[in-house]
Amino acid sequence: MQVVIANSAAEVAILGAKYCVEALTKKPNCVLGLATGSTPVALYETLIDLHRQQQLSFKQCTTFNLDEYIGIVSTHPQSYRYFMQAHLFDHIDIDQRQTYIPDGMGEPQQAALDYEQRIKQLGGIDLQILGVGRNGHIGFNEPSSSLVSRTRIKTLAAPTIEDNKRFFKDGEFQPTLAITMGIGTILEAKKILLLATGKSKAEAVKNLVEGPLSASCPASALQMHQNTIVIIDTEAAADLEHTAYYHQVATETEQLDNNND
Ligand code: F6R
Repeated sequence: MQVVIANSAAEVAILGAKYCVEALTKKPNCVLGLATGSTPVALYETLIDLHRQQQLSFKQCTTFNLDEYIGIVSTHPQSYRYFMQAHLFDHIDIDQRQTYIPDGMGEPQQAALDYEQRIKQLGGIDLQILGVGRNGHIGFNEPSSSLVSRTRIKTLAAPTIEDNKRFFKDGEFQPTLAITMGIGTILEAKKILLLATGKSKAEAVKNLVEGPLSASCPASALQMHQNTIVIIDTEAAADLEHTAYYHQVATETEQLDNNND
């Protein structure tokens, strides 16, 4: 696991975008795994800017989102389909038929199986973008999720429901179930990029990077992945113990990259 500590949330987005550009440049028909939530919004804005400056095309790529609520239609402003259209897909040249999000209104068990199968058919995910919940969830794999789980129905934990409450109007139906890629599904991505910003994520970041491998912090499963990069701002890095080492590795990696240019 490589840990990159950026000076600000804005810098996290810029560094994250570099990995997406690299993936799309090396393999224009790559398969990207995408996340919703507030963390990747700045990353998506950076990608949209690059697309507008004609430096980036998504024409040939395919995307799979991590998760979707069960019980709200795709046109609902809180659905993850709606989120992705508004924050990315409507602003880039992607073939909309190549943007996959679990079907939260179909028969959920079948939808989960179909999703797994479609990911496999398309050769697996090349680069998976992740955020992390305060409780250490990735996708909607809440604490106690099996570390080898596949795409399935999950009940949302109380802190997750609380965190997402702000997006729903008073009295509006807020889903408590979702379809999510499993941890095993996520770990099959060839490369993983986890972004986290702000002090509310400091404990989850500490647990995922330096804590024990444990279902209590589902994101700690990333310790078992061979190609994960964690990009965080200084606030999210506040509880880490080996900060000096992460900075040392980052400096040396940069020097090596410069020598190879
Ligand atoms: C969203 C997702 C979640 C979020 C996490 C952090 O698709 O999979 O795991 O990444 O809840 O959300 P934010 O970024 O809003 O703090």
